[in-house]
Amino acid sequence: MSDNTGISGKKNKIIESRDLVKKFGDFEAVKGVSFSVFQGECFGLLGPNGAGKTSIVKMIYGFSPITSGEMQVFGEDISARARAIKTRIGVVPQEDNLDPELSVWDNLMVYAGYFRIKREQARERAGQVLDLMELTEKADTAVNDLSGGMKRRLTLGRALINEPELLILDEPTTGLDPYARHLLWQRLRRLKEAGTTMLLTTHYLEEAEQLCDRLLILDRGEILEEGSPADLVEIHVGREVLELGIGYEEIASLTEGAGDLVKDYHVLGDNVLLFTNRGQALSDLVAGNAEKMSITLFYRRLRPSNLEDVFLKLTGKTLEDIPQGPEGY
Ligand SMILES: Nc1ncnc2c1ncn2[C@@H]1O[C@H](COP(=O)(O)OP(=O)(O)O)[C@@H](O)[C@H]1O
Ligand SMILES: [Mg+2]
Repeated sequence: MSDNTGISGKKNKIIESRDLVKKFGDFEAVKGVSFSVFQGECFGLLGPNGAGKTSIVKMIYGFSPITSGEMQVFGEDISARARAIKTRIGVVPQEDNLDPELSVWDNLMVYAGYFRIKREQARERAGQVLDLMELTEKADTAVNDLSGGMKRRLTLGRALINEPELLILDEPTTGLDPYARHLLWQRLRRLKEAGTTMLLTTHYLEEAEQLCDRLLILDRGEILEEGSPADLVEIHVGREVLELGIGYEEIASLTEGAGDLVKDYHVLGDNVLLFTNRGQALSDLVAGNAEKMSITLFYRRLRPSNLEDVFLKLTGKTLEDIPQGPEGY
C-alpha cells in the first residue's frame, strides 16, 4: 500500500476515514472529516472542547453510528464488521468507566471476560499489564481508593488486556497533575516503541507535541490543518516568537520597520506576537530601534514557537483559554 504523506517506508493503513459526518439531530458535530492513520504511528486529534474529537473516536470504536461517510479500520468497514474490529482495538475513553466497587484485579478480569479470553491467559495478561502500569501492589485495592493518575493507568492497562493492534486514547491525561501526566506519557511512549498504533485526542498542545507523529487540528467539527507538529509550526509561524508589549497603534510602524524579519503577527491581549525565523536579529532590531520607530516597549521576550501559536494563528483563539465545561464554548 502506498500513500502521499511523505513518511518513508511501506505502511498499512490502520484507519481510513472519508467525509465522515456525525449529526446529533440537526446539529453537525463532525462535518466531513477525512484522514488516514498508518501502522505504528501515533496520530493526534488536537482541538478545543466541542471540536468533535470524542464524536470521531466513538465512531471508530463502534460506540456511535456514522451519520454519513466511510470508516475503515484494519481495511474493513466499521458499519459491517464492528464486532470483529472491536476485538483488535483497545480503548481509553474520555470518562473513566472502571467499576469503582471492584478491585483493580477484578476490573481487569471482568474486562478480559468481554473478549472471551481464557481464565488462565487473562490472569497472565492482567499480571503483565499491572506490571507495566506499576500497579502490581494495588491489585487488591478497590478502584474507589485509587488516585486519579492510578485510575487512568488502570484504564490504560485494561485497554491492553486483549493485546490490541490499535489503541484509542480520548484525552488520556485530562485532569491529571503534571507528574501523573508524565508517568502516563512514559507508558505511552513505551507502547509506541513496541509498535502499537495509537490514535490520541487531546486539547493539550504539549501532549500532542510530545507524543504525536502527525496530527489534525480540529475546530467545530472541521479539519483546519494536518501534518507533523514540527512541520505545522515551521509552515505557519516559523521557528520563534518575539512577544512584545507595545501600544496597539504602534504595531504598524513596528512591522514596517522590521520588514521581512516578521513572517506574520498576532495580537494577544496587551501583547503582539511576532512570528519569525530570525528571532534574535528581530529582537535586537526592535530593542535598538524602538525610539526611531516611535515605539514604547513595555515587555520583550523571545521564545521557540509551538503548536499553540499555530492554533492561535489559525483560529484567533488559544486552546487553554477556552472553557472546558460540558457546553464547550
Ligand atoms: N450526544 C450528543 N448529543 C448532542 N450533542 C452532542 C452529543 N455529543 C456531543 N455533542 C456535541 O457535539 C459537539 C462535539 O462534541 P465532542 O465530540 O464531545 O467534542 P470534543 O470531544 O472535541 O470536546 C459539541 O458541540 C457537543 O456539545
Ligand atoms: Mg471529548
